[in-house]
Amino acid sequence: MVVFILLHLVHTLFTSKFKRLISWISGVISFLVVVTIGVTGYILVWDQKAKLTGYLTAKLFSGLRIFDPAIMGAFLLNDLTVVGGFFKVALFGHIALSLITVIIIWIHVMRISKPKIFPPKKLILYVSIAVGIISIAFPVKSDPAAQLTNLPAQTTFDWFYYFGYYLMKIFSVWQNWAIMIGSGLILSILPFFMRRNDRYPVHIDLDICDGCNLCSYDCPYDAIDMLIHEGERKAILSPEKCVGCTICIGSCKEHAITHSDFPGYEMQPATRHHVTVFTCSFFPETSFPNDVNIKEYKVPCLGSVMIKDVQQILDNNSEKVAFLGCEDCYYRYGKNWAVDRMLQKRPPALSKRYDCSRLRLFTLNQHKLELLSEFSKETNGKTGKEAQVKDFYKVKPVFAVLMLTAFFALFVPFTSTTVRFFNPKDKTLIVNFKYISSPTAFEKSTSTMKHMQSAAPVVKSRSSVELKIYASGSRKLLYEKQYTPRGMRHDIAMFIFTQMNITEDKVDVELKETEGEKRELILNEVQVKPGDGTFLILHDGKLVVAKEGT
Ligand code: HEM
Ligand code: HEM
Ligand code: SF4
Ligand code: SF4
Repeated sequence: MVVFILLHLVHTLFTSKFKRLISWISGVISFLVVVTIGVTGYILVWDQKAKLTGYLTAKLFSGLRIFDPAIMGAFLLNDLTVVGGFFKVALFGHIALSLITVIIIWIHVMRISKPKIFPPKKLILYVSIAVGIISIAFPVKSDPAAQLTNLPAQTTFDWFYYFGYYLMKIFSVWQNWAIMIGSGLILSILPFFMRRNDRYPVHIDLDICDGCNLCSYDCPYDAIDMLIHEGERKAILSPEKCVGCTICIGSCKEHAITHSDFPGYEMQPATRHHVTVFTCSFFPETSFPNDVNIKEYKVPCLGSVMIKDVQQILDNNSEKVAFLGCEDCYYRYGKNWAVDRMLQKRPPALSKRYDCSRLRLFTLNQHKLELLSEFSKETNGKTGKEAQVKDFYKVKPVFAVLMLTAFFALFVPFTSTTVRFFNPKDKTLIVNFKYISSPTAFEKSTSTMKHMQSAAPVVKSRSSVELKIYASGSRKLLYEKQYTPRGMRHDIAMFIFTQMNITEDKVDVELKETEGEKRELILNEVQVKPGDGTFLILHDGKLVVAKEGT
C-alpha cells in the first residue's frame, strides 16, 4: 500500500498535478495516517516487535516530556498494568484511523469530479490473485510473543511502515523529531516551489448557451454548474475551480465556450491532406513521415477538439484524422471524452454518417512514424471501429498475473528484515518500578461536610528518594539520581527508571528516602550478564531481580 501511495505521490508530483493544494495536503496527511495504521497493526500482534515499537514510541515522546521515561521501562518489562492501555489505544487507533482515512480521501478528491477510485476490474482481479499467491508463498511471520523482562534484542522490521523507527537507531530523539517535522513540512510546501501556472479560466457566452448540461457533465474539475440565470438554465462557471483545460470547449456544440489563449484553429476549406493531426499541447514535439501529406493542429487538450470541426475536416480536407495524446491525460478525462465522442458513445458524438476507422488515436508510447504512414494508406473500414480509436494494450491474463506476482515478490525481503536495536554483548541494567515514599507532612480535611472528611490524616507531601548504583566490591559510584514525588503537591507515587549499559559484572543498588521515615531499599551483588538485560523491580516491598513471570 505504501509503495502504491508513493508511486501516486511521485506521479502527481512529476505530472504537476499537485497544483490542487487540497489534494496534495490531504494526500500527505493520508500517507502519514496509513503508516500509523500499519504500525498500530503490528502492535496488535503483541510480539517482540510490538514491544520494541512501544519502547521506541515512549522514547520519542519522553524526549518531548509528554511521556514519563518510565513508560519505556514498562514496555521492556511488558508490564501490562501500564502498557495495556497502549494496546487498547493501538486497537482503537487502528480501526478509527482506517475510518478517518476514508474521510481524508473524500476531502482529497472532493475538488475533482468522477474521481477514479477503483482501478479497472481486470486489474483488481489480477492484483488480488498476485497478492494471494505472494501471501501463500511468503506469509508474514510475527516475531516471538512479547516476553516479560527482556530486551527485544532482535526483531524483524517491515521497512514500508517502520522506516521512521529505524532512524531512531541512528539519530537522537531530538534529531528524529527534527527529521519528522522537517520532512513533513518540506513535503507539504513542495507544491509552492514547483507550482506550474494554471491556464486562465474559459469564458462562457450565456447568450449562446442553450443549457444542454454537457459541459457541466464533462468538466473534470466540477467548475460548471447548471443554474437559473435571468429565468433560463445556463452553464455558470466557478472561475476559481477552472484550470483552463478547455475540455468543455469540445463538449459545447453551440460554440458558447472560448479561451483567450486558444482562439481556435483556422480551417482551410480548399486544401486537402492525407491526414489531419490534432496534437495535445503536452505531447512532445514530433516529426511526421515524409511520404504523408499532413496538416497538424496543436490543441490545448484532445478533449477540446470539437466534433463539428472533425466532421468538417473529414468532409473537405482529409481522408483520415489522427489524434496524438498522452497516455495519462494531464487534465484527467480529456483523452477519454475525445475517444468516446469519436466512437459515438458520448455527446456531442461523431455523426453515424462517418466511419470511425477514419480516426485513430496514437498515444505517446504508440506513436511511430511507420504506424502513422500505415494508417494513412489503410483502406477504410478494414478493421472493426472499436480497435481504431481505443487505446489499450491487450495483455494475456496469465502473463499479467505473473508480472504482478514478480513485482510484488520484489518487496517481500523488505517486509521482515532483521534489525538489532540492542547489542547482545552489552550488559544492560534496567531499574524500573513505581514507588510511594513515606509522608513528610499531613493536613487536616478542610471540608465542612461530614461524608467528605477522611478519618485518616491527608498526606500533604512525601519524601524524595535517591537512587545510587555502585560497582560491587570497589564501591565506585556508577550512577546517581534524585526522584521527587509527582503531582502539584509532590504527594503522588513516582516512577523510578534508569536504563544503563555497564562494564562491571556485579552492582550494588540503593534507594534511600531523603526525608520522613528515611526508608532504604538495598540490593547488593546484582549479577548483570550480557544479553537480554537485567531488570530490577519492586516486589512485596523489596528490590528484586525480575525473572520471567515475577
Ligand atoms: C491513501 C492514500 C491515497 C489515496 C487512496 C489517493 C487517491 C486518489 C484518487 C482516487 C485521486 C483521483 C484520481 C483521478 O481520478 O484522477 C487522487 C488524486 C490526487 N492525489 Fe491522491 N491518494 C492518496 C495519497 C496521495 C498522496 C500521498 C499525495 C501526494 C502527497 C496525493 C496527491 C494527489 C493529487 C495532487 C491528486 C489530484 C490529481 C489531479 O488533480 O488530477 N495523493 N488521489
Ligand atoms: C489502511 C488500512 C489498514 C492497514 C494498512 C492495516 C495494516 C495492518 C498491519 C500491517 C497489521 C499487522 C499484520 C501482522 O503482523 O500480522 C494489521 C493487523 C490487524 N489489523 Fe489492520 N490494517 C488496516 C485496516 C484494518 C481495519 C479496517 C481493521 C478492522 C476493522 C483491521 C484490523 C486488524 C487486526 C484485528 C489486526 C491484528 C491481526 C492479528 O492479530 O494477527 N485493520 N493491520
Ligand atoms: S455545453 Fe455549451 S450549450 Fe451546453 S450547457 Fe455548456 S455552454 Fe451551454
Ligand atoms: S476549462 Fe476545464 S476546468 Fe475549466 S470549466 Fe472547462 S472543463 Fe472545467
